[in-house]
Amino acid sequence: MRTPTELCLMLLACLALHASELSAETQLPEQLEGVGVTEKVGASVPRELQFQNHEGQGVSPGAISGERPVVLSLNYSRCPLLCRLQLQGLVEALRQIDLAPGHDFDIVSVSIDPLETPQQAANAREGHLRAYGTPGAGDGWHFLTGTRDSIRALADSVGLEYRYLPEQKENAHAAAFMIVTPDGQLSHYFYGVQYDPTALRLALIESSQGKLGSTFDQFLLFCLHYDTEAGRYGPVARNVMGLGGALTVVLLGVWLVPAWLRRRNLVEAGPSVAVEREHETARDSQRTQTLAPSLMLPLAASWFPESASTVASDVDGLFWFITAICTVFFALIVGLMTYFVIRYRRTECRRIGHGPSHNTTLEILWSVVPGILLIFIFAYGAKGFVEMGTPPDNTYEIKVTAKMWSWAFRYPNGHVDNELHVPVDRPVRLVMSSDDVIHSLYIPAFRLKQDVIPGRYTKLWFEATEIGSFPLFCAEYCGQKHSDMVAQVVVHRSGEFERWLDEAANLLKTLPPAKAGEVLYTRRGCAQCHSADGTRRVGPSFYKLFETQQRMTSGEVLTVDENYIRESILEPQAKVREGYRPVMPTYQGQLKDDEIDALIEYIKTLR
Ligand code: CUA
Repeated sequence: MRTPTELCLMLLACLALHASELSAETQLPEQLEGVGVTEKVGASVPRELQFQNHEGQGVSPGAISGERPVVLSLNYSRCPLLCRLQLQGLVEALRQIDLAPGHDFDIVSVSIDPLETPQQAANAREGHLRAYGTPGAGDGWHFLTGTRDSIRALADSVGLEYRYLPEQKENAHAAAFMIVTPDGQLSHYFYGVQYDPTALRLALIESSQGKLGSTFDQFLLFCLHYDTEAGRYGPVARNVMGLGGALTVVLLGVWLVPAWLRRRNLVEAGPSVAVEREHETARDSQRTQTLAPSLMLPLAASWFPESASTVASDVDGLFWFITAICTVFFALIVGLMTYFVIRYRRTECRRIGHGPSHNTTLEILWSVVPGILLIFIFAYGAKGFVEMGTPPDNTYEIKVTAKMWSWAFRYPNGHVDNELHVPVDRPVRLVMSSDDVIHSLYIPAFRLKQDVIPGRYTKLWFEATEIGSFPLFCAEYCGQKHSDMVAQVVVHRSGEFERWLDEAANLLKTLPPAKAGEVLYTRRGCAQCHSADGTRRVGPSFYKLFETQQRMTSGEVLTVDENYIRESILEPQAKVREGYRPVMPTYQGQLKDDEIDALIEYIKTLR
């Protein structure tokens, strides 16, 4: 009997992988010298070697099937432990996969003991087939015995080195089996006594030369490759990246091309149509159209909103600068990578060597050049940031109040509007606060965005350079109607601005109350939640509302009269209509009495 220490040593030798590596770097115990495996992937298993099967018939392990992949293992029946463990591990893994020996693949177990008889081989075969337990497995599992010379020749051809130990009358050998393709080439090596069933299955499919496996398996094999040392399949970075890249391009195409085409059609139909269709709230305006500066790419002209403030060109410049850098480096890196992958790909005659470990010039270059670029981007960005945060003297100041889901702009003369009107070529400062949650004022044409926060003031300044009207959005998700929180920025000629402000502030003096009420209804944001045509929105419609009986959430039934409407404007939570949520903000201090009167007059006209 072998001592446990010796068995452990042998097991260790098997689990440790390549003989070449082992013998070169470590001092082996005497018994294990000349034991190991030198992988010969791609080499052919000789067909002319003659062995006997368990029934005594002459066969060659290199010509067993001819059309199926073969699991080739070298063992011997008298082996005290290792061969049994190895074949048990193989059976264990094979029982977990959906491929059948004799049908999808063959197993060839060749004895390395020249003294082994076909009878002994037959007995061993019997035992392992019993453990396998799959009917018909015997058709595909061949146990072969042969002469000393043919065993040696076979072992050499697959790179298996074993040694006869005369004292123990046993063979020191490694635990490894090979997968052989139908035309007799070695394709995979598996080591140890436990095998990953998935890896074994994929290796058989990969070795079957297209005869086994589903389309999905082929896809898996495209993305995975066999890692001999780990005994399992891992991802092929290049192929996975390639697939990811292709997917990205397809997605971008599917997404962006239609958007771009639509946008281009609209721009061709006339720039104002484009903006108005996109922002349905856009009204007829005195805009004069300018498209983005012709310096930009034609693509950019159709993708970007026009630039209409003093800072817009700087923001765009930085954007294009960063885009250009990204494009150049993307092309450089991917181009070089592709070139290297092709130029230095692994071929049969090219072994894996050691690449250069470092190159001082290259390392300095690829640190310093991007460093300078980053510093430039930082300086450019910081300059713009400081400028945007520092308003010049004599700015025209407008107070902004955001609430769910409308904007209120208060002008110096006390007029409140839900559109932002500003004079052209004059610095304007917005002092902003929110009544409820965080909103964000965003004017794409000015390239400006700033959060609007409850309980404090945030500021923003700009100088409009183009006359016209531009969309203004809320850019912070603020609830159900966030996407409706849009307004217009109207940029007036300087004289016209004052005239507009004067008229707008004295609306009630120039218009009959009901008409003024209608203007206030849209201008002050009532229309966001209350329709005038019976459509149900967040709040009750004003259509046919006046002097009707309505049930409140408290259960009482009230008549909608002047007092009820006034109370609902100033104290919206006091009496809430049944079926509606108490979400309306108060207009206390924001609507004057005569404005409330005008609104009531307007609601009366909808009877
Ligand atoms: Cu306010 Cu989103």
